[in-house]
Amino acid sequence: MGQKVLIYGASGGIGTFAVQIAKYFGAEVTGVCSTRNLDMVRSIGADHVIDYTQEDFIKNDVATGGSMAQIFQALLIGPWISMTGSKKLGSSTFKPNKDLAFMKELIEAGKVKPVIDRCYKLSEVAEALRYYSEGHARGKVVITV
Ligand SMILES: NC(=O)c1ccc[n+]([C@@H]2O[C@H](COP(=O)([O-])OP(=O)(O)OC[C@H]3O[C@@H](n4cnc5c(N)ncnc54)[C@H](OP(=O)(O)O)[C@@H]3O)[C@@H](O)[C@H]2O)c1
Repeated sequence: MGQKVLIYGASGGIGTFAVQIAKYFGAEVTGVCSTRNLDMVRSIGADHVIDYTQEDFIKNDVATGGSMAQIFQALLIGPWISMTGSKKLGSSTFKPNKDLAFMKELIEAGKVKPVIDRCYKLSEVAEALRYYSEGHARGKVVITV
């Protein structure tokens, strides 16, 4: 409780989960995304949103309290820290089965809602990967098996 979390890339497949998980654990969440995704990132719970096309968030209050090392740490491993530093997981060791079971609980309870951008058939995997690798997916790109 009382922690502040910055999610860079809050509108992506990872970011949309990171925002919701951080909110679930009581953090005050700031999401960085582009103009077209501001409303979506707010809608999944972000307290603040920063439009990276309009504002350089490194120059505003979010980061002024930290050293350059802290800023780079936030940029590079922030989302990972926000998940593993939680009270529930409480460990830096990733435990796939336990963590996935926990995510299943959160989703079934409606605490976390997956944001799905597009669904592709199994035969369209190459196209799906091409789309994903462009770096503009809004939430998850799903392969339907
Ligand atoms: N998805 C997975 O299962 C997975 C697994 C392991 C690791 N990873 C890694 O985790 C990271 C995040 O992956 P991801 O799946 O969320 O996809 P991603 O391709 O990193 O994120 C896509 C989102 O980022 C936004 N974006 C693009 N440029 C941005 C910028 N300069 N500032 C802020 N947001 C920006 C895009 O929206 P706009 O284009 O509208 O800005 C889009 O909504 C990647 O490094 C990926 O390799 C992902």
